[in-house]
Amino acid sequence: MTKTHTVLGLESSCDDTAAAIVRHSGHGPEILSSVVWGQNELHADFGGVVPEIAARAHAERLDICVERALQEAGLELTDVDAIAVTSGPGLIGGVLSGVMCAKGLSVGSGKPLVGVNHLAGHALTPRMTDSVAFPYLMLLVSGGHCQFLAVLGHNQFKRLGGTIDDAPGEAFDKTAKLLGLGYPGGPLVEQEARNGDPARFNLPRPLLDRPGQDMSFSGLKSALRRACDLIVAEKSGITKQDRADLCASFQMAVADTLAEKTRRACHVFQEMTKAQSPVLTVAGGVAANTVIRERLQQVADEAGFAYLAPPLQFCTDNAAMIAWAGLEKLRDGGVDDLSLSARPRWPLDQTAAPMLGSGKKGAKA
Ligand code: KG4
Ligand code: ZN
Repeated sequence: MTKTHTVLGLESSCDDTAAAIVRHSGHGPEILSSVVWGQNELHADFGGVVPEIAARAHAERLDICVERALQEAGLELTDVDAIAVTSGPGLIGGVLSGVMCAKGLSVGSGKPLVGVNHLAGHALTPRMTDSVAFPYLMLLVSGGHCQFLAVLGHNQFKRLGGTIDDAPGEAFDKTAKLLGLGYPGGPLVEQEARNGDPARFNLPRPLLDRPGQDMSFSGLKSALRRACDLIVAEKSGITKQDRADLCASFQMAVADTLAEKTRRACHVFQEMTKAQSPVLTVAGGVAANTVIRERLQQVADEAGFAYLAPPLQFCTDNAAMIAWAGLEKLRDGGVDDLSLSARPRWPLDQTAAPMLGSGKKGAKA
């Protein structure tokens, strides 16, 4: 008989305050509740996350989210087996808020504390939603992250490449800001792009001319700004059609880059694992983009991989993935004590060389 575990998870590493309860029993994984309190309205005027504002909101909202998660699951704190919390990587103020809250809950209830790597949460999500077996390939593509991971075990990850500068979500957000579209930019750029011509602007596909799976998106962002400046210089402003064409061309450049690098990552993964039924999975907000999703599906089909995109609410930041990653760690005997510290940087694959530019933005991993 499989032992039943029930874990409360907390997430506060970026701009979503979240709490959730996940159980694993003989019936497999079950998400009993998942509460996410987003902060978009707090950061919208700034066109990006302001760390101090985020940390304060997390500190104010975490316990409310925990209460709601327990209530929705119909449980008391005494019913859970452990308290899992994102202890990095992320914005330090937010991570600290979560870790302090989890320590308080742990001391108060006598339940063990389990520190979880936020990226492990994303990477292990397909096991929670679809019981995918190890090993599998994951493309994690969000506002703060972009990397290929061979997921070999709950605590065993091999990075097969990643961005050397910005994450694609960040580039989508900056594009939206430049074009006056609002925040978060990804969905708004995607919407504009529907009426645009993706071939009008010849934007770069960075690093495609070089071998390997590393990516770069900051040059693309600058190229978009130059294309926009040129139109403004010519016509003293941009029309609605210009904006749609810029969005479509930008989105296509990101999709082309991700598709080609994913094709290579599938190849490397297959060489490395010789998996019988290889699976490509995705996580992160950018994986919500329809054009990008379709391209990745196509790449997977061509490479002979099954393609799995978990439900969107578990692709973006949430606490169910933290509870699940904590549960996998707990089952393996992994618990932490009150010396657990918040780690703003915490690469999943400790053996991989640090990415270029990884010191500049803080939350890179
Ligand atoms: O995973 P996520 O919710 O948070 C983290 O960054 O960890 O991802 C948010 C990012 C934002 O940058 C947002 O603009 C982007 O995902 N995003 C999209 C789309 N929806 C969200 N990017 C492109 N197309 C979309 N439809
Ligand atoms: Zn995330």
